[in-house]
Amino acid sequence: MEKTLIILKPDAVQRGLIGEITSRFEKKGLQIVGMKLMTIPASIAEQHYAPHKGKPFYEGLVRFMTCSPVVVLALAGKDAIVIARKMMGATFGSKAEPGTIRGDYGVSNAYNLIHGSDSPEAATKELGLFFKADELQTWKPTIQEWVYDMTKGTPE
Ligand code: GTP
Ligand code: MG
Repeated sequence: MEKTLIILKPDAVQRGLIGEITSRFEKKGLQIVGMKLMTIPASIAEQHYAPHKGKPFYEGLVRFMTCSPVVVLALAGKDAIVIARKMMGATFGSKAEPGTIRGDYGVSNAYNLIHGSDSPEAATKELGLFFKADELQTWKPTIQEWVYDMTKGTPE
């Protein structure tokens, strides 16, 4: 199954939204294979957001991401990257559709609650930045055969 890296940003943790947001992913059928509370070291935040280096919001973004604890989640599922991004909604809280995480819980452009990997390459890089191999669990949810049609051996 595809894996993606999700970060519940400092505003989500401070606002008591860890449970609400994580619960949406669980209910959708995405499987939690890694989860921890951490304060992101500046060097990791800089590597994570390296593609934005030089943009006007970059330094503020690194400061924000390191100012208070976050929750990092590794989620697994068929098409997990695209599904998680759809559930997050548009980048800016002011633009995100109701029904999405950013649309339902946020109004800010900068404090937008959540990060999700945007490609398989980004997911591989970001999972490696935030999780050691032994922090990711391989486990079979007992409900899996009801989340997917597994009758042909692969998830549908
Ligand atoms: P991430 O999942 O966090 O990477 O968000 P994204 O992929 O939806 O957006 P993008 O990668 O373009 O931007 C990364 C983050 O930088 C956003 O989530 C915002 O927190 C912040 N950001 C992006 N654009 C702006 C901006 O114009 N102003 C400010 N203040 N922050 C921005
Ligand atoms: Mg991004």
